[in-house]
Amino acid sequence: MVKFNDSHPYAIETESLSIYYGRRRVVEDVNLRIPRNKVFAIMGPSGSGKSTLLRSFNRLLDLYPEARVEGRVKILGVDIYSPEIDPTVVRRVVGMVFQIPNPFPHLSIYDNVAIGPKLHGLCKSKKELDELVRWALEKAGLWEQVKDRLKEPASKLSGGQKQRLCIARALALKPKILLMDEPTANLDPVSTTKIEELIVELKKELTIVIVTHSPRQAARIADYVAFMYMGRIIEVGPADEIITSPKHPLTEKYLTGVVG
Ligand SMILES: Nc1ncnc2c1ncn2[C@@H]1O[C@H](COP(=O)(O)OP(=O)(O)OP(=O)(O)O)[C@@H](O)[C@H]1O
Ligand SMILES: [Mg+2]
Repeated sequence: MVKFNDSHPYAIETESLSIYYGRRRVVEDVNLRIPRNKVFAIMGPSGSGKSTLLRSFNRLLDLYPEARVEGRVKILGVDIYSPEIDPTVVRRVVGMVFQIPNPFPHLSIYDNVAIGPKLHGLCKSKKELDELVRWALEKAGLWEQVKDRLKEPASKLSGGQKQRLCIARALALKPKILLMDEPTANLDPVSTTKIEELIVELKKELTIVIVTHSPRQAARIADYVAFMYMGRIIEVGPADEIITSPKHPLTEKYLTGVVG
């Protein structure tokens, strides 16, 4: 049984990480250390490899037959690409939320959250499952709005509500790390603010890695920012330093809208 070390200082560490699709290398020699219980933002122009990098952190890349990973990724001290690791366990510990909210549209609001814990056999009774679903929906700031309509299909929710449902679905598996790939890119400003508040709240309990194209969003919620360009990490550091006084000219060009 793999033991993730909850008090390890780094949620994620990569060592000489390169990622290929076929023969093309799209992530190049990335060495990152992402501290636990922080919000870590990844920024960079379209096509720079942000989503690919994120997908290597929970072995979602395994689902892309043409993808190949070189080097190491450690989650709470555990090398997740070593042969004895079960990728489904990694995906439970490292949850993911995508740009386009993707709840199962025909499943009920309740079942969208309950399905993961059911599949993983996390609850012993219906009561325990009910409590977990409620807890996750409360955490995601959705409970009050849906508690009287849990049996309705998820398709009836608004865009912002659907995204919060996806967050609740991820939280129900009690992940230690949550990966968010442009989670507010398709949301209105009010829903965006709610998700940002939620992210700041959640970092008390878990580590968040978020891809964002918005320097203002990064400034509002991130502790650290990494700037990526053509598969490489160009610059990484405290969010306020990177956003207000980047050291590398490419970062500055990106932030001022010249690149990307
Ligand atoms: N499944 C795939 N097969 C082959 N190439 C891919 C695949 N997915 C992505 N790529 C290529 O890998 C590179 C990095 O893509 P990725 O999606 O990681 O970029 P990104 O930084 O997330 O961009 P965006 O900001 O547009 O989401 C791009 O050149 C892309 O075309
Ligand atoms: Mg992307």
